[in-house]
Amino acid sequence: MSKAVTPSVSELVADATRAKEKSKAEFSGFRVGAAIETAGGKVYSAFNIESSSYGLSMCAERIAIWSAVNSGETRFKRVAIVSDAKDFCTPCGACRQVLFELAGDIEVYLTNGLGEMRNYRLSSLLPEAFTSKTLLNGRD
Ligand code: THU
Repeated sequence: MSKAVTPSVSELVADATRAKEKSKAEFSGFRVGAAIETAGGKVYSAFNIESSSYGLSMCAERIAIWSAVNSGETRFKRVAIVSDAKDFCTPCGACRQVLFELAGDIEVYLTNGLGEMRNYRLSSLLPEAFTSKTLLNGRD
């Protein structure tokens, strides 16, 4: 899904929440929605999709960023991540890495099941990140 207006943070959270409602989390029951906003104000949202072969399940955040990149997007501003849990659903390590590499040091807004919000810079959730710069600088 994508939308072409510049959303407020609450609209971005609403997009992530709508995505969460469609979550395919039949094994864990842990529903997650993510909505990532491009520099131009477009929003790509996604939900987690689980597999009966559990390890093949995929987080909402990675589906959202991959969907945006697959549509040609290269510059990003912020991401909202929502779940039903009382605790905030901080992105898993794999999602932090993929988001940082593809979206850079964006703002991360988390909303829990009580409707409370927290926000971070992605770099504070992934300090000293390994990036392509490190990889390419290591070559002769
Ligand atoms: N999950 C996400 O979608 N995002 C996260 O940041 C953490 C975990 C999903 C993966 C799995 O479908 C379920 O939540 C339980 O781990």
